[in-house]
Formats: sequence, structure tokens, C-alpha cells
Amino acid sequence: MNTENKEAASQRILSGMRPTGLLHIGHLSVLQNWVRLQDENKCYFAIVDWHALTTAYDEKVEYGELVRNIALDWLSVGLDPEKSAIFVQSHVSEHAELYLALSMITPLSWLERVPSYKAQIQQLGAVGKDLHTLGFLGYPLLQAADIMLYKAHAVPVGEDQLPHIELCREIVRRFNHLYGEVFPEPQGLVGKVPFLPGVDGRKMSKSYNNAIAITASQEEIRQQVRKMVTDPARIRKDDLGHPEVCVVFRFHQIYTPDVGRIEEECQSGSIGCVACKTYLAENLDKVLAPYRERRLAWEEPGLVEKVLKRGEQRARHMAEETLEDVRKAIGMPGMGSLGS
Ligand code: TRP
Repeated sequence: MNTENKEAASQRILSGMRPTGLLHIGHLSVLQNWVRLQDENKCYFAIVDWHALTTAYDEKVEYGELVRNIALDWLSVGLDPEKSAIFVQSHVSEHAELYLALSMITPLSWLERVPSYKAQIQQLGAVGKDLHTLGFLGYPLLQAADIMLYKAHAVPVGEDQLPHIELCREIVRRFNHLYGEVFPEPQGLVGKVPFLPGVDGRKMSKSYNNAIAITASQEEIRQQVRKMVTDPARIRKDDLGHPEVCVVFRFHQIYTPDVGRIEEECQSGSIGCVACKTYLAENLDKVLAPYRERRLAWEEPGLVEKVLKRGEQRARHMAEETLEDVRKAIGMPGMGSLGS
């Protein structure tokens, strides 16, 4: 991890998320990392709708509502449009243009060996989704274009994204080698991300219905916490518990300041699972309540649109400059500099 202020000071940062539905608390640590970075750096945060389409191309999706929702989630957690450019990828057409330029120099084998590529084709193939498309193969290249368009030095992401950042670095090196130094090699910034299971112990995911949304109400939090899987050896309240196998305890470790007390009381059988869950729900609510409140303020009609419009303008400013550099480097200048 590299979040030391000195090294990170005033760098260009880019990151993005696909607009696929309400964000859940598994996304919080990455988002909180973004919020911290925006004080000291020039940050670009993209809602990557083209990326969503790489897998959802055969579904009827209305992206407007999804885009608005993820923007609200980001703003609720504390992304600040005064400090950062918050925008929609497809609104800045230079993303597509740089992707095309980079496609010329990207060997197919580099894309085919990205670990998630074959795995996803298989996983989603099993449920009837055909991902043998150019768009899906190009997913990590489009991500590289996102990063390079803002000449980003650093990319704060979850650990699962590191192979994509590595590919981006390879593409940067190849471009710079072929056409001259245009792009910095970006670094992945992986914060300490505690692994959070879903309430049923599987991976937290909206599609398993085991997630807690960032926007969950007090009542929704209680309901989801009530569903959490506990130590199967505890049948009566005073049975001795084993916190290390309990989903509730995993959450206490993140959200409960006096987690040590809970651990002891569980082990000694002096707190029952119901009380233990009630306490967790209260602590989780303390974290999420301020986000809900901030979200209300941003929900005012027209406000999100304004934020995204302004973000788009800022993003485009940088994107146009980079594309001009790229055109010059590859010997394909735009109008106005064709020579005489
Ligand atoms: N692939 C990323 C994810 O699934 C989303 C993404 C697209 C991204 N473009 C990006 C992340 C650029 C960081 C930088 O989470």
C-alpha cells in the first residue's frame, strides 16, 4: 500500500466503478480511500458505463437511473465535486478514441492471459451469457484507456483489480517505447481492505441478496444482521461461542470499537447471539446514518446532473489535451497542425 502523503502528494489519480446497482458496505473501504485521496491530489472518478455494457450487452438496461444512483452513493460517502471530477465515462468520447488508438499496439495474447478473462467467460457462460465478444476481451484495455487518458500516476482499487493495472503498465511502456514518453506508469493503490462476507457467509454480492447497501435504513440493517450466520455450536444462549467462525463477529471486528469485550462475552457464553446482533446493528447504523443524511441533501432534483456536467467538463479538458499528445506522438495530428 502506498498512501503516504508525501509520495502521494498532488498526483493525478483516476478510478472508476461500473453502474450496476446500489453499492454495498463491501465497497466502503475503497470509497473511503478515494475520499481521503481527494484532499491532496487531482482526482478523476469515472462512472464506467461502457464497462457495464461489456457484460450486460444483451440485457435491457436503463443506465440513467443506475448512473444517478451510483453518483448519489459516491456523494453520500463524501466524494466532493469541488475537489474531484466526478463524471460518466461515455460522456467523454475521448475514452473510446484512446481505446481505439491503444488497440493498435495491444497484442491479443496480453488480453487473453488476464486472469479474470477466461474465468469470467466460464462462470457467466455457465449461466447462459456468451462473452466471446471483442468488447469483453477489450475490457482491461478500455480500463487502461481510462487511466491513461488522465495520465494518472495512481489508481486506488480493490486488490482484484491489480492484474488490470499491471496490464495498463505494460501498455504504457509499449506506447512510450514506440512513440516517445507520453504516459506515466500508474501505480495501483490498494488500501487495507478487510474481507467482508455477505450475511450468509458467502461473498457479499447484490445478486446473492446477502449484502448490506450503503443506503440501508436502520430497519434494513437490523433485518440483514438478523440473518447473519452464527457459530453453529451455540444453541442455547449460555453455550460457549467461537467468534472466529461467526459472521457477526467478522463485522464486529470492523464496526465495533470494543470488539474485545464482545469476543470475551461470546467465548464465555455471557452474551447471547440476539443481543450480540442488536449491538452490531447499532454500530453499523452509526457508520451509515451520516451517509444517509448526506444523500438526502444530494437528492434534490437537478443536483446530481449538475455535478456530472461539471465533472465532465473538467475531465474533457484533460482528455482533449492527452489525445492531442497521442495524435502528435503517433504522427496523426489534428486539424490546425497538418503542416503546410
Ligand atoms: N474494472 C473496474 C472494476 O470492476 C472498474 C474500472 C473501469 C476501473 N475502469 C477503471 C477501475 C479505471 C479503476 C480505473 O472495479
